[in-house]
Amino acid sequence: MLETPQGILFVCLGNICRSPLAEAVARKKFSALGLDIPLESAGTGNWHVGGSADPRARAVAQRHGYDLDSHRARQLELDDFERFSLVVGMDASNLSHIKTMQPATAAAQVGLMLTVAGLGQGREVPDPYFGADAGFEDCLRLLEDGVDGLIAQMGCSAGDAPRPV
Ligand code: 4NP
Repeated sequence: MLETPQGILFVCLGNICRSPLAEAVARKKFSALGLDIPLESAGTGNWHVGGSADPRARAVAQRHGYDLDSHRARQLELDDFERFSLVVGMDASNLSHIKTMQPATAAAQVGLMLTVAGLGQGREVPDPYFGADAGFEDCLRLLEDGVDGLIAQMGCSAGDAPRPV
Protein backbone atom coordinates (compact mmCIF):
# COMPACT_ATOMS: atom_id res chain seq x y z
CA MET A 1 0.00 0.00 0.00
CA LEU A 2 1.00 3.57 -0.61
CA GLU A 3 0.04 6.33 1.78
CA THR A 4 -1.69 9.06 -0.25
CA PRO A 5 1.24 11.33 -1.16
CA GLN A 6 1.36 15.08 -0.45
CA GLY A 7 2.65 15.48 -3.98
CA ILE A 8 4.15 13.34 -6.71
CA LEU A 9 7.09 14.30 -8.89
CA PHE A 10 7.74 12.21 -12.00
CA VAL A 11 11.37 12.21 -13.11
CA CYS A 12 13.10 11.14 -16.33
CA LEU A 13 16.26 12.24 -18.12
CA GLY A 14 15.18 15.10 -20.38
CA ASN A 15 11.71 15.97 -19.02
CA ILE A 16 10.40 16.09 -22.57
CA CYS A 17 9.08 12.54 -23.13
CA ARG A 18 8.33 10.09 -20.30
CA SER A 19 7.86 12.20 -17.19
CA PRO A 20 5.67 14.89 -18.83
CA LEU A 21 3.52 12.08 -20.24
CA ALA A 22 3.32 10.46 -16.79
CA GLU A 23 2.35 13.82 -15.28
CA ALA A 24 -0.35 14.40 -17.93
CA VAL A 25 -1.81 10.91 -17.46
CA ALA A 26 -1.79 11.27 -13.66
CA ARG A 27 -3.34 14.73 -13.88
CA LYS A 28 -6.26 13.40 -15.91
CA LYS A 29 -6.82 10.16 -14.00
CA PHE A 30 -6.43 11.73 -10.55
CA SER A 31 -8.75 14.55 -11.47
CA ALA A 32 -11.39 12.09 -12.67
CA LEU A 33 -11.24 10.49 -9.22
CA GLY A 34 -11.35 13.79 -7.35
CA LEU A 35 -7.79 13.20 -6.08
CA ASP A 36 -6.35 16.64 -5.51
CA ILE A 37 -2.61 15.96 -5.26
CA PRO A 38 0.11 18.32 -6.59
CA LEU A 39 1.74 16.73 -9.64
CA GLU A 40 4.80 17.86 -11.56
CA SER A 41 7.64 16.40 -13.59
CA ALA A 42 11.34 17.13 -13.97
CA GLY A 43 14.45 15.85 -15.69
CA THR A 44 17.81 14.92 -14.23
CA GLY A 45 19.53 16.58 -17.22
CA ASN A 46 19.46 20.25 -18.21
CA TRP A 47 19.60 20.06 -22.02
CA HIS A 48 15.92 20.87 -22.61
CA VAL A 49 15.20 23.25 -19.72
CA GLY A 50 12.53 25.76 -20.75
CA GLY A 51 11.65 23.82 -23.90
CA SER A 52 8.43 22.12 -24.98
CA ALA A 53 7.75 18.42 -24.79
CA ASP A 54 9.10 16.31 -27.66
CA PRO A 55 6.74 16.60 -30.69
CA ARG A 56 6.27 12.81 -30.71
CA ALA A 57 5.24 12.87 -27.06
CA ARG A 58 2.85 15.75 -27.76
CA ALA A 59 1.35 13.83 -30.68
CA VAL A 60 0.79 10.61 -28.77
CA ALA A 61 -0.67 12.59 -25.87
CA GLN A 62 -3.09 14.34 -28.18
CA ARG A 63 -4.14 11.08 -29.85
CA HIS A 64 -5.08 9.68 -26.44
CA GLY A 65 -6.79 12.73 -24.95
CA TYR A 66 -3.95 14.22 -22.91
CA ASP A 67 -2.46 17.68 -23.24
CA LEU A 68 1.25 18.46 -23.16
CA ASP A 69 1.04 21.81 -24.96
CA SER A 70 1.78 23.95 -21.92
CA HIS A 71 4.60 21.74 -20.64
CA ARG A 72 8.02 23.37 -20.20
CA ALA A 73 10.95 21.19 -19.24
CA ARG A 74 12.74 21.80 -15.98
CA GLN A 75 15.53 20.15 -14.05
CA LEU A 76 15.21 18.28 -10.76
CA GLU A 77 16.16 20.55 -7.86
CA LEU A 78 16.80 20.15 -4.15
CA ASP A 79 13.58 21.90 -3.20
CA ASP A 80 11.64 19.10 -4.93
CA PHE A 81 12.51 16.77 -2.06
CA GLU A 82 10.64 19.10 0.30
CA ARG A 83 7.72 19.90 -1.99
CA PHE A 84 6.91 16.32 -3.03
CA SER A 85 6.51 13.37 -0.71
CA LEU A 86 6.90 10.87 -3.57
CA VAL A 87 9.60 11.23 -6.23
CA VAL A 88 9.51 8.49 -8.87
CA GLY A 89 12.03 7.84 -11.61
CA MET A 90 11.25 6.17 -14.90
CA ASP A 91 14.38 4.02 -15.05
CA ALA A 92 17.25 2.86 -12.88
CA SER A 93 19.54 5.64 -14.06
CA ASN A 94 16.94 8.30 -13.14
CA LEU A 95 16.49 6.68 -9.72
CA SER A 96 20.22 6.61 -9.14
CA HIS A 97 20.39 10.37 -9.86
CA ILE A 98 17.43 11.02 -7.59
CA LYS A 99 19.04 9.10 -4.73
CA THR A 100 22.37 10.87 -5.21
CA MET A 101 20.67 14.24 -5.05
CA GLN A 102 18.24 13.58 -2.19
CA PRO A 103 19.30 15.47 0.96
CA ALA A 104 19.77 13.15 3.94
CA THR A 105 17.21 15.17 5.87
CA ALA A 106 14.48 14.97 3.20
CA ALA A 107 11.81 12.44 3.97
CA ALA A 108 10.45 12.08 0.43
CA GLN A 109 9.84 8.49 -0.65
CA VAL A 110 11.78 7.69 -3.81
CA GLY A 111 11.51 4.73 -6.17
CA LEU A 112 10.87 3.52 -9.67
CA MET A 113 7.42 4.54 -10.86
CA LEU A 114 6.36 1.05 -11.98
CA THR A 115 7.73 -0.59 -8.84
CA VAL A 116 5.91 1.87 -6.57
CA ALA A 117 2.84 1.18 -8.72
CA GLY A 118 3.12 -2.53 -7.91
CA LEU A 119 3.92 -3.55 -11.47
CA GLY A 120 7.25 -5.25 -10.86
CA GLN A 121 10.40 -4.88 -8.81
CA GLY A 122 13.02 -3.03 -10.84
CA ARG A 123 10.67 -2.56 -13.80
CA GLU A 124 11.55 0.46 -15.95
CA VAL A 125 9.76 2.74 -18.40
CA PRO A 126 12.13 2.49 -21.39
CA ASP A 127 13.34 5.74 -22.96
CA PRO A 128 11.56 6.21 -26.31
CA TYR A 129 13.63 9.27 -27.34
CA PHE A 130 16.12 7.54 -29.63
CA GLY A 131 13.66 4.97 -31.01
CA ALA A 132 10.82 4.77 -33.53
CA ASP A 133 7.51 6.60 -33.16
CA ALA A 134 5.79 3.38 -32.08
CA GLY A 135 7.84 3.49 -28.91
CA PHE A 136 5.82 6.48 -27.78
CA GLU A 137 2.59 4.50 -28.02
CA ASP A 138 4.15 1.71 -25.93
CA CYS A 139 5.47 4.29 -23.48
CA LEU A 140 2.08 5.93 -23.01
CA ARG A 141 0.36 2.57 -22.52
CA LEU A 142 2.90 1.63 -19.85
CA LEU A 143 2.48 4.98 -18.13
CA GLU A 144 -1.32 4.60 -18.12
CA ASP A 145 -0.88 1.20 -16.45
CA GLY A 146 1.60 2.79 -14.06
CA VAL A 147 -0.76 5.56 -13.02
CA ASP A 148 -3.59 3.05 -12.57
CA GLY A 149 -1.18 1.07 -10.40
CA LEU A 150 -0.32 4.09 -8.27
CA ILE A 151 -4.02 4.77 -7.80
CA ALA A 152 -4.60 1.15 -6.80
CA GLN A 153 -1.67 1.27 -4.35
CA MET A 154 -3.27 4.32 -2.75
CA GLY A 155 -6.35 2.23 -2.11
CA CYS A 156 -8.46 3.84 -4.83
CA SER A 157 -9.84 2.14 -7.89
CA ALA A 158 -9.42 3.68 -11.34
CA GLY A 159 -13.20 3.15 -11.67
CA ASP A 160 -14.12 5.05 -8.48
CA ALA A 161 -16.31 8.09 -8.87
CA PRO A 162 -15.34 11.24 -6.99
CA ARG A 163 -16.87 11.50 -3.55
CA PRO A 164 -19.63 14.11 -3.29
CA VAL A 165 -18.55 17.23 -1.38
P1 4NP B 1 12.98 11.58 -21.54
O1 4NP B 1 13.66 11.28 -22.95
O2 4NP B 1 14.05 11.36 -20.49
O3 4NP B 1 11.88 10.56 -21.44
O4 4NP B 1 12.49 13.00 -21.58
C1 4NP B 1 14.86 11.87 -23.37
C2 4NP B 1 14.84 13.17 -23.86
C3 4NP B 1 16.01 13.76 -24.31
C4 4NP B 1 17.19 13.05 -24.26
C5 4NP B 1 17.21 11.76 -23.76
C6 4NP B 1 16.03 11.18 -23.31
N1 4NP B 1 18.39 13.66 -24.74
O5 4NP B 1 19.42 12.98 -24.75
O6 4NP B 1 18.38 14.82 -25.15
